[in-house]
Amino acid sequence: MLIDLRSDTVTRPTAGMKEAMFTAPVGDDVFGEDPTVNALEEKIAKLFGMEAALFCPSGTMTNQIAIRLHTRIQTEVICHQYSHIYLYEGGGIMANSHASVKLLPGDLGKITASQIADSINPDDVHAPETTLVSLENTMNKGGGSIYTLDEIKPIHALCKEKGIKLHLDGARLFNALVETGENPADWGAQFDTISICLSKGLGCPIGSLLLGSKADIKQARKVRKVFGGGMR
Ligand SMILES: Cc1ncc(COP(=O)(O)O)c(C=O)c1O
Repeated sequence: MLIDLRSDTVTRPTAGMKEAMFTAPVGDDVFGEDPTVNALEEKIAKLFGMEAALFCPSGTMTNQIAIRLHTRIQTEVICHQYSHIYLYEGGGIMANSHASVKLLPGDLGKITASQIADSINPDDVHAPETTLVSLENTMNKGGGSIYTLDEIKPIHALCKEKGIKLHLDGARLFNALVETGENPADWGAQFDTISICLSKGLGCPIGSLLLGSKADIKQARKVRKVFGGGMR
């Protein structure tokens, strides 16, 4: 028997998954008429204490939609130099959002509030405006390292003070929450948007959700359409 340890993404559907798919009520999600998707979005938004959620085919799409929401041309994203959004999403920050990136170093793939404070661009004609900080938890290329809430809170406070949006690539956030025992709703309170993946070790065959405010998710639905992620 071959055991493939490259990633938790190479798992195959189990009989239970296939049975769930076979019996699930379905509909056209572009029209908001898939009852299973609607129930899933509502359940996960509630779990994180956030207003709304959007189901997408992949974590790359949920991250890229979030970046699109929180940036525009001539603005800048701050993230760790090993972030998935930078290294492994095909240059999407530039391709999809025409935004600049400032990459920070940091042990185990993590960055701190003081590093971020030093990296926010001044209001100056020479510099792109910093509009977004993006964190990753667990941090894939940091060896699966985790942030605790106590590390996030000063970053949240800084972003709030500076009027900068805060996104979390939480592809494996549930792994971190199992380790720390922290409450998902306490995490939801720290971020403008959170991306979580269902397809990575959670027993689901596909998909990711973007969580955020009603207004952000309404806009995200439009971006998902243009990215080709509306499923019917
Ligand atoms: C940290 C992280 N973010 C985002 C993604 C993207 O997810 P997807 O492969 O569903 O696009 C991955 C994929 O493994 C990941 O490890």
